[in-house]
Amino acid sequence: MTLSAADFAFVSALVRREAAIVLAPGKEYLVEARLIPVARQVGAASVAEFLANMQRRPNSEDQRRIIDALTTNETSWFRDREPFSALTDVVLPELVRSRGTNRKLRLWSAASSSGQEAYSLAITLQENLPTGWSYEIMGSDISTEMVKRAEAAEYSQVEVNRGLPATQLVQYFERAGAHWRITPALRRNVSFKLMNLTAPLPALPPFDVIFLRNVLIYFDVATKKSVLRNVARLLRPDGWLFLGAAETTIGIDDNYERVAAGRTSAYRVRSAVPAGTARKG
Ligand SMILES: C[S@@+](CC[C@H](N)C(=O)[O-])C[C@H]1O[C@@H](n2cnc3c(N)ncnc32)[C@H](O)[C@@H]1O
Repeated sequence: MTLSAADFAFVSALVRREAAIVLAPGKEYLVEARLIPVARQVGAASVAEFLANMQRRPNSEDQRRIIDALTTNETSWFRDREPFSALTDVVLPELVRSRGTNRKLRLWSAASSSGQEAYSLAITLQENLPTGWSYEIMGSDISTEMVKRAEAAEYSQVEVNRGLPATQLVQYFERAGAHWRITPALRRNVSFKLMNLTAPLPALPPFDVIFLRNVLIYFDVATKKSVLRNVARLLRPDGWLFLGAAETTIGIDDNYERVAAGRTSAYRVRSAVPAGTARKG
């Protein structure tokens, strides 16, 4: 059975209001498929019954379940590779030159899903920062379930097979029954927060590098614009922003300039782009 038009409208309005996620008409099957396990979990006979109960007695717990179910949490280790190579080859050498006084870097994985991106950043820094340097990585996500998973730092064999080289599996993970757990030494520098990027962002010390990857695609243009503006406030003036391969600031926020970073592109706040940096658009 497919969701009724009224139920689809109810769910779309809820995820739009709470997470700015746009569910285009035609996604009824997707919504129903994602909500079937939720309905089962709360003991409802069907998705329709679950939604009817919720509309009669709105509550934040069911709302959270719906948002968790409708966010797309697809991720992998060192996703797309190039942003991580750019970090190693271009960004870290520049930051090491310019942050010689305090020797500490702060990075943000701004839609961290189950944590692979944040821990991939930690591995990259662990292997490429000179001795005597330290770093902090913050991951954040709107999904309570994903934040819990990222904090638990435990991954199945199938998950570690997605992009993690064997040498790094051996070095940064320990066995946890049938799963793999990130070592305490790597976890020490990584923390996670529940955060809605489309709500006012908390006041935090600024970041040197922000990975805001594969999340803007779910938002409409006005929301992308406001997220990019808010994120710019948490980026150091000479910091670096990385977006997903299908995402850009171009035509959305002129405060950013796209620059070459190794074989990929990154974004920097316009006034901070040093003369002579290759411009890509
Ligand atoms: C496709 S995953 C991307 C994960 C990772 N950045 C990567 O590129 O592999 C998108 C993540 O964005 C999160 N998300 C969706 N809407 C959000 C919002 N309004 N605020 C914060 N996170 C959000 C989802 O929960 C999901 O974990």
